[in-house]
Amino acid sequence: MTPSIFLRVIDGRLILWNYVRHEQFEIDLDHLRRLMQLSGGDKPTDEPADSALSTAGCLDDIDPPAWGWDCLSRIFHVGTQIALRQDEALPEEDAYRGYIEYCASIADKVPEFKIERPGKVIQLPQAELSKLGEMPLWKALRDRQTCRAFESKMLPLEEVASALWATFGTIHGDCRHDLEAIGLMPVGYRRTSPSGGSLHPSEAYLVAMRIDGLPPGIYHYRSHKHELSVVRDNFETTTLGKLLCAQTFANALSYGIFVTSRFDKMWWKYPHSRAYRVALLDIGCLIQTFQLVCNARHIQSWPTGYFIDHEVNKLLDVDPDIESAMFFLGAGIGGGAVAREALETLRRFNAEVQ
Ligand SMILES: Cc1cc2nc3c(=O)[nH]c(=O)nc-3n(C[C@H](O)[C@H](O)[C@H](O)COP(=O)(O)O)c2cc1C
Repeated sequence: MTPSIFLRVIDGRLILWNYVRHEQFEIDLDHLRRLMQLSGGDKPTDEPADSALSTAGCLDDIDPPAWGWDCLSRIFHVGTQIALRQDEALPEEDAYRGYIEYCASIADKVPEFKIERPGKVIQLPQAELSKLGEMPLWKALRDRQTCRAFESKMLPLEEVASALWATFGTIHGDCRHDLEAIGLMPVGYRRTSPSGGSLHPSEAYLVAMRIDGLPPGIYHYRSHKHELSVVRDNFETTTLGKLLCAQTFANALSYGIFVTSRFDKMWWKYPHSRAYRVALLDIGCLIQTFQLVCNARHIQSWPTGYFIDHEVNKLLDVDPDIESAMFFLGAGIGGGAVAREALETLRRFNAEVQ
């Protein structure tokens, strides 16, 4: 039996889904019963039910994959691969034309690109970009390091504003003048990081903890206007570590940023689940940019993907089926890759194994 199928109820029908072959079949009670018998060890026969199950790939004799995670990640990994059908050759024709035609066909359904959440608006000081230019790129790259030992220090709002703008700001302006200049409709915008389809599905939510000039709270960063809107006007710093799966050293950060992904933007242009990968990759680019920006400004930073999703989404007040927290970036003053509380334990452990 193949490990490559699962069953789902879709629109009131039971669907057998072969996620390797990207094929779906409606299955009735007789075939389901037969599938159970075959799963239990019955040998396949020439009966029509067995032939139908064979056609759906259920009887393919595939070794269980050497896979270190459970089947959910496997379904995503394999199910979102681009595969050739049996005996299909590699594509010869230039795909770009088809892509352009596709873009034109969806141009009248462009989703809302820039979100402005309700809530009191707070203007941010202009980003101090000259400081970023002081550190050579190679030094910023080489000295980039994850910090986990923060010192609960205050940071000026200018510092936070600069990091937000340099990482998430629409630094080239409100729309894509490069496209307009050649007579095309600009869709999307540009940041300092690349983004699949220029969609920039990632939004930034500032967790203000110790910022001079900004009360603790949760704020949405309007990246196209370089301003904040208040989501929550209070935030207890000791809550952060708990939300981040008890990584309690986070409580000593000056600020953090929850990065969400707006799936609705992706759905518009890339309706296949493969685009979920693109949403994650988008954040990967932002992580590196944020760390380089922090480093160039002599601020320490910490990335983590480990948090309690549901609670964080509640905190950010987002509809998690459309926009969901995907990552956290922390920043502050400190030094060292190992959190202070863990340092002694690690030293003891090292001494024991030596
Ligand atoms: C996608 C991603 C997830 C990460 N998750 C965590 C995490 O949950 N906790 C943590 O302390 N560090 C986390 N990190 C930081 C890594 O542990 C760190 O990058 C790694 O130890 C290498 O150290 P360096 O960044 O100083 O080179 C993460 C980094 C990335 C890119």
